[in-house]
Amino acid sequence: MLDLTGKNALVTGIANNRSIAWGIAQQLHAAGANIGVTYLPDDKGRFEKKVAELVEPLQPTLFLPCNVQDEPQVEATFKTVQEKWGKLDILIHCLAFATKESLSGDFSSVSLQDFAQAIEISAYSLISLSRAAKPLMTEAGSIVTLTYVGGARVIPNYNTMGIAKAALEMNVRYLAAELGAQNVRVNAISAGPIRTLASSAIGGILDAIHHVEKVAPLKRTVTQIEVGNAAAFLCSDLSSGITGQILYVDAGYEIMGM
Ligand SMILES: NC(=O)c1ccc[n+]([C@@H]2O[C@H](COP(=O)([O-])OP(=O)(O)OC[C@H]3O[C@@H](n4cnc5c(N)ncnc54)[C@H](O)[C@@H]3O)[C@@H](O)[C@H]2O)c1
Repeated sequence: MLDLTGKNALVTGIANNRSIAWGIAQQLHAAGANIGVTYLPDDKGRFEKKVAELVEPLQPTLFLPCNVQDEPQVEATFKTVQEKWGKLDILIHCLAFATKESLSGDFSSVSLQDFAQAIEISAYSLISLSRAAKPLMTEAGSIVTLTYVGGARVIPNYNTMGIAKAALEMNVRYLAAELGAQNVRVNAISAGPIRTLASSAIGGILDAIHHVEKVAPLKRTVTQIEVGNAAAFLCSDLSSGITGQILYVDAGYEIMGM
């Protein structure tokens, strides 16, 4: 049975009710997990207020600012996790960023600055969060991140983010190899295209969704809740033999050649 009772789950990446991280947090909570939420702070505190109101029904026992580009803030986040929870069982890495300019047009036109920023936020952050989580995952653990088929194959306009996702997917394998000895599993879900704040920055995202609706075996794309269900599975003992994998939750799109 899928049961996450007694597990402490830290969920990053909730921006609004369309966020994939929101679908995941709801399903982890439904399976009995104790939820902690981090949000990206902004100067006016708007994100904080919006996310706090949204997650209120899940009664999170931690609610912390965490900009992954701010190392001291990352350290402070996990220090609080240690003080308040003692141990961490589940880490959901569900965040990414690339400038709008690097998500359309010619792939080769990306600047070093935009490229480096996308890799730092979208791929390196899995390493830094996992490093901070490692000493807290004392009773085994599960780390889950989110990727997209554009990290394995060319998808129009995904450009720089495709490189970031390719790096992220290799991070999953190297981290799984390192952390396996302490029974911490690391996996990625490769989700089909979903309309969210982040995906709206990708040129032609609606075309990508309509293409999947036509071509995927299930003739549709997926929902945040379906991704959340797969994440709950990967965080539970039902998946105890699975690590270092990329699980496609994409209505089957990935198997199609045409
Ligand atoms: N939407 C899709 O079609 C799709 C498909 C496959 C994978 N994904 C991946 O799912 C994940 C979540 O994206 P989403 O589509 O739910 O969009 P979203 O906009 O709801 O979530 C992106 C999150 O990243 C956070 N973020 C950005 N920069 C950050 C930083 N410096 N520090 C901390 N957090 C930061 C934002 O605050 C936001 O909560 C991303 O990794 C995305 O690439 C999305």
